[in-house]
Amino acid sequence: KEKVRTSYVCENCGHTEGQWWGYCRSCKFAGTMKKFSETGGGYGDKVSGIVASENMVKSWLPQQAAEVNPVSLAEVNRDVNHLEWRIPLPGPFGDEVARVLGGGLVPGSLVLVGGDPGVGKSTLMLQLAAIIAERQGHGKQAPVIYVSGEESVQQIGNRADRMGIGTEDLYLYSSTEIEDIMGKIQNLSPLALIIDSIQTVYLNGVVGSPGGLTQIGHVTKSGEIAGPRVLEHIVDVVLYVEGEKSSSHRLLRPVKNRFGSTDELGVFEMSQSGLQAVSNPSEIFLSEQHLESDVLAGLAVTVVMDGSRSFLIEIQALCVAGSSASKRHATGIQSSRAEMIIASIFLNVLRGVELTETAGDLAVAVAICSSFLECPVPNYVAFLGEIGLGGELRTVPRIEKRVNTVAKLGYQMCIVPKSAEKALASFGFEGMKIVGCKNLKEVINTVF
Ligand code: TYD
Ligand code: MG
Repeated sequence: KEKVRTSYVCENCGHTEGQWWGYCRSCKFAGTMKKFSETGGGYGDKVSGIVASENMVKSWLPQQAAEVNPVSLAEVNRDVNHLEWRIPLPGPFGDEVARVLGGGLVPGSLVLVGGDPGVGKSTLMLQLAAIIAERQGHGKQAPVIYVSGEESVQQIGNRADRMGIGTEDLYLYSSTEIEDIMGKIQNLSPLALIIDSIQTVYLNGVVGSPGGLTQIGHVTKSGEIAGPRVLEHIVDVVLYVEGEKSSSHRLLRPVKNRFGSTDELGVFEMSQSGLQAVSNPSEIFLSEQHLESDVLAGLAVTVVMDGSRSFLIEIQALCVAGSSASKRHATGIQSSRAEMIIASIFLNVLRGVELTETAGDLAVAVAICSSFLECPVPNYVAFLGEIGLGGELRTVPRIEKRVNTVAKLGYQMCIVPKSAEKALASFGFEGMKIVGCKNLKEVINTVF
């Protein structure tokens, strides 16, 4: 009676077709199209095909779809107490993860965490496992189980020691076979189960798709979750851990969240003892020399938004007289003079952040002017605003939030577009001076 839908999904890129092909029409890999059968049940069915056992039902979804009838909006039971209850994640690290998850871990939910090899997924999961296991005030103690298909129990134990984790309610198990894992954890009835990682575990005899994608997830060379592209549809939350090899800070970014906003962003620092929450994300984007009194010319600070969070960033400009490599032809003007005026400009946004917002326009222009004039920008001034073609300043979205960030970090002056000055003045901003300017010329007269 159950309807089975069959599709063919590329193991490499997740591209889906209704029929089988010898190669993937999207990424052109040969022999990667694998049969993937979905039964017509609810999410519960599909999830149980992957990791959840019967006692891991979704508390927030009807468990027997056949017995439930459509309900008028007015009659929906809004007693959501049991739905809103989240597994608490205590401590600064827990707070940061909880915020990204939309307020905590929802019981019965399935969270997929992806990211480049070595970025810190296992570290994150072990820390999370420990704080869930250590949580306070939830009556009955249920353990947390951390299953690894990549490392032995001893290796995980050693890592836990290095990270200062010593909770007894955390159980470790090393296995790659789902039936085995489920069998072993059944009588422990864990509060949470962590599988590290989903691409290492397999299910014997998956109905309808032996060797198919229902049990294989893996990460492509570009670090994206591939096989689990299919998984991304099934799970409730998809988080990515991001970070540069050269830097110790890590971002935790939700790309899907059934229980919260995907605008959030968690910021962590990788330390000797695991990930530490960064309480003031702006600080990590500041280069050291800017904090010193002897400021270099060519630096200007602005604020970019990433989701609901604001980041202080520093723009670096370097103007050098045009070299032979950048010879320009000028008519009607002495070419040496033209060279000098159209000096080559190098721009750099520090800390590898990409400046995609126009809010940084003014800081870019000021950094260039500062370098050109060889006159440093005072280190207590920040800049916000978009620049029009006539040099006029325009306001930018969520300017009060950006100004607030600058004020919190102790800046004493913020240059904003004149049009935004009045509205901003009413906020106070811890005594920081708000200076409205109509155009770039006014800004230069104010700063230099
Ligand atoms: P890991 O969590 O194993 O990455 P993933 O599971 O995403 O592949 O993290 C590996 C890196 O993190 C490794 O280079 C060592 C570093 N690390 C620390 O700096 N501090 C720590 O406390 C731990 C556990 C790892
Ligand atoms: Mg790992």
